[in-house]
Amino acid sequence: MELPGPNASRRRFLKAALAVGGTSALSACLDRFGDEPIPQGVDDPTTLPDRQFAWNDSLPRDDGGNVVLPEQHLFLYLDYDGEADDGVPTAADRETLAAGLRTIERAFEWSNEGVVFDLGYSPAYFDRFEASLPDSVDLPPPRRLTPVDTPTLDEQDALLQLASDRSDALLEIEETLFGDDAPGTLNGVEIEGRLGDVFTVADRRTGFIGPGLPAANQGVGGIPENGPVPEEAPLFMGFKAGFEKNQASEASVAIAEGPFAGGTTKHVARIRQQLDKWYGENSHDEMVAKLFSPRLAEDGAVEGVGENLGDDSGITDEIYEAVDGTAAEFGLVGHAEKAARGNRDADGTVRTLRRHVESTDDDNASLHFPSYQQGIGEFEAVQEAMNGTDLVGDHPAINPRVKNGIFRYIFVENRGNFLVPPRSLRAFPTPTGAP
Ligand code: HEM
Repeated sequence: MELPGPNASRRRFLKAALAVGGTSALSACLDRFGDEPIPQGVDDPTTLPDRQFAWNDSLPRDDGGNVVLPEQHLFLYLDYDGEADDGVPTAADRETLAAGLRTIERAFEWSNEGVVFDLGYSPAYFDRFEASLPDSVDLPPPRRLTPVDTPTLDEQDALLQLASDRSDALLEIEETLFGDDAPGTLNGVEIEGRLGDVFTVADRRTGFIGPGLPAANQGVGGIPENGPVPEEAPLFMGFKAGFEKNQASEASVAIAEGPFAGGTTKHVARIRQQLDKWYGENSHDEMVAKLFSPRLAEDGAVEGVGENLGDDSGITDEIYEAVDGTAAEFGLVGHAEKAARGNRDADGTVRTLRRHVESTDDDNASLHFPSYQQGIGEFEAVQEAMNGTDLVGDHPAINPRVKNGIFRYIFVENRGNFLVPPRSLRAFPTPTGAP
């Protein structure tokens, strides 16, 4: 992957710079955007919300009232590499990490114009302690969750996801807090601790989202060469997702009790997309049927990329409860209607907060799919509903990969599970929450 020339649009340039990474990409950004300041953060990071994943109130909304995610995302998969005392992080390493994270919050405004982030820890991280996580935390190791994929299980210790509209901010954090030859300040703020002193970067993945970006970046594997991705689409498949009424609130995905109350769990899948058949074989209505529901396709409910839907995907209780009848009538079931069956708790509240973004890592179209929920078991129930194994068994027209939502086009490559502790416990937590 190379940096585009000076005439590339600003957003496309920022996207490419993040994917390329390293000092050369950062200096190319400084050449181009060096005189456009990025807002600094708070003097006192303890004034920020205790929920690390409390991003929504600091992000803009679109005309439909939906949260607009920052455009650029950096996923750093990290392994603990500090002094360690019997394999367990030391108090000094904990302080270094806490100081490094506070440095980011002082350096950049907590918003899409600055940076938002969260740091989560895997079951493999917690395995090094003698004590176990309390029952109030549902964090099993990642596992295979569909009958049709055999993903690599992400067992790194931690995942730091950083997001911003300014990828130069993300590159600067990476170079400054992890680099060997780093300067003493970050966006003009003095550095108090370096993450590279306690973590090694085991894997680096990048993502993006927003109208225009998929179209501008569709020249990769997995997307037909005739450039079918609509200009206004925020995602490669050509539609919008993440409607307000179909998303859990941050409050409702927070762990309610125990030492990690105010934290959450995060499942992250990396999904390769193969969209030649998606664009080659489906009309607009067929795409709506497979992604949403044949019932919405029949009603012409989704226009273009779906801006007309406002803040609700249109998948009503009646629609998802009638999926079996839909399968019988149409010989086909939609992705959203199928998944929604598992995505409501007993009182009808949406269970998962999905924040998925696109990627062209390794020059192939893929999706990073982070989902936040109180416990990983809830995500697994949603995935089970999306698998549609019951429907495959009952309806001969529906196969695990065919006429079964979007399974024909998506292939799960990685899965990881993480506990995102409350901010107060985010630096090398112990399983009991005690220091
Ligand atoms: C390329 C991959 C994917 C794309 C393009 C995609 C897109 C969409 C779209 C357009 C909708 C309807 C609008 C909305 O409610 O946001 C939807 C709904 C949904 N998706 Fe996906 N999705 C993908 C993968 C996944 C995966 C892997 C899961 C994990 C289980 C998932 C879970 C859901 C759920 C639970 C809903 C229904 C929300 C509700 O309860 O109403 N999606 N998706």
